[in-house]
Amino acid sequence: MSNIDVSTLLARVEKRLLIDGTWRDGSEGETFDVVNPATGKVITSVASASRTDAVSALAAAHRARASWEKTTPRERADLLRKAYDLTLERKEEFAPLMSLEMGKTYAQALGEVDYGADYLLWFSEEANHFFGSTNHYPAKGARMLTFRKPVGPCLLITPWNFPLSMGTRKVAPALAAGNTVIIKPSGKTPLTIQYFVQTLIDAGVPAGVVNLVPTASSRDVSEPLLADPRLRKVSFTGSTKVGATLLKQAADNILRTSMELGGNAPAIVCADADLDVAVEGVTMAKMRNNAEACTAANRIFVHESVADEFTEKFVAAIKGMRVDEPFAEGVDLGPLIDGGAVEHMQELVADAKAHGADVLCGGHAVDRDGYFFEPTVLRGCSTEARVYQEEIFGPIAPIFTFRDEEELWGLANDTEYGLASYVFSQDPNMLHRASDNLEFGIIGFNTGAVSDASIPFGGMKASGLGREGSKEGMLEYTELQFVGMPDPYEA
Ligand code: SIN
Repeated sequence: MSNIDVSTLLARVEKRLLIDGTWRDGSEGETFDVVNPATGKVITSVASASRTDAVSALAAAHRARASWEKTTPRERADLLRKAYDLTLERKEEFAPLMSLEMGKTYAQALGEVDYGADYLLWFSEEANHFFGSTNHYPAKGARMLTFRKPVGPCLLITPWNFPLSMGTRKVAPALAAGNTVIIKPSGKTPLTIQYFVQTLIDAGVPAGVVNLVPTASSRDVSEPLLADPRLRKVSFTGSTKVGATLLKQAADNILRTSMELGGNAPAIVCADADLDVAVEGVTMAKMRNNAEACTAANRIFVHESVADEFTEKFVAAIKGMRVDEPFAEGVDLGPLIDGGAVEHMQELVADAKAHGADVLCGGHAVDRDGYFFEPTVLRGCSTEARVYQEEIFGPIAPIFTFRDEEELWGLANDTEYGLASYVFSQDPNMLHRASDNLEFGIIGFNTGAVSDASIPFGGMKASGLGREGSKEGMLEYTELQFVGMPDPYEA
C-alpha cells in the first residue's frame, strides 16, 4: 500500500473540467459521483460537462491547433518526456487512485503506471523519428514527396478498466504528431485522468492543447463534437456496441476513427504444450486486471489428450487466487467495477450450467460489501452457452476441448471478435500455423502477457479499426500529404 493518505491524495486531484487552460465547473453546475467498487461507497464527486462545455473545449482545441502544429518535434518530444518523468515520480499517487476508483490490486495499479508511462516515453521518442519520404517517379525524373501532417483536433474517449494507460496510449501519439485533444474519460474512473491532465500541465502543455470534459452523460460530449466539422478524429476504447454508434455518428463528417473494441479471445493449449507454462499463461491472460480486459482469455480450448491434466492444474491455480480489497496483502483479484458486473457474472454461470457446464470452482458473488465475484472455472458447456458466444469481462474461465487443428481453427474463429488470442505449444511451426489460421490482431505464443507500448495493439473484425502503440499508433493521428514536382533538370 502507498504511504499516501487517501484524503490528502484526493484533495490534490482537480475535480473540474479543463478548458483552454482553465479549470472550471460545468456550465450547468452538475456533478456526478465516483464510487469505490470495493465498498460501494462514494469516494468523491466530479464536475459534469454539458453540451455547451464540450463545444467550448473543441473551440479551445481548434484555436490552439495552429500554434501547437508549429512546435518542433523536439519541443513536443521534450514535453512528453517531462510528462513521463513526472508520471513515474507520481507513481505512488496514480496507483492508489486507480485502485480506489477501479478496484485493481495495488500491485497491478503500480504495474499500470509503468505501462501507461511507457506510452509517453515511446511517443516522445517517435516524435523525433517521424518522417515523410522523397522519391523519384519510377519512369521519369520528376520527384515525389510525402509529408505526415497532424490530423487536427481529436476527441479521445477512454475506458474505466485501464484508467491511465488507455489515456496515455491516445494522448501521447496525438500530441507527438502535433494535434490538440479533448479527453472524455469514463464516468466511472475520472480521477486518474484528472490527475494525468494536471501532470501534463505541470510538464508544460500550453493552454487549449489538452482539454478535459468528464461527464455524467457521454452523449452530451460525443454527439455535439462528432457533428462539429472542427473535430477531425475520434479515438475510442470500449464496447463494440458503443463503437458502432460512434462510427455511424462519425460518418457524416468523414472523421478519422480509431476503435479499440470488444474481444472474445481463444486461449489454445496444444497436446505438446508445457502445461505449467500454459497454466501460468492462461491464468495471466484470464485474470489480469480483475479479469476486466478486452484481451482477456474468454474461451479456453485444450487438446483432448491433455484436457484432464491441464484442468486439474488450472483449477488448483485459480483456487489459490485470493479475492480481497485492492490494497490487501497478497491479493490477486479485487472487486468488479459495479453491481451490474456481478449480476452479469451470475447470469453467465446460470446460463452455462443450463448448457451443461460443471462448475469446478467458484461460481458465486462473494458475501461482503462491494462488488466481488469468485474466480470460476467451468467445463463441459456447449458452444450455445453465453460464455462461448459473448465477451465475459469477469473472472469466469470456461474450458472446451478440441480433437485436431481443423476443428480448433473453426472453434477459435467462431466469433465476431478478433482482438487477442493465445497459443501454448512447444512446436515453433505452430506459431506459423496459428498466424496463418487465426483471425486475431494479436497472438501471444507461450505467453499470456502481450501488452506493451511498442506493439501494434488492435483487432480484426468487430474488435475495431486501427492500431495503438508502436509506430502505427502515431500514423493514426496523421494525414498523409503528397507533393509532386517536375524533374529539376528539365524545369
Ligand atoms: C483493454 O482492455 O482495453 C486494453 C488491454 C491492454 O492494453 O492490455
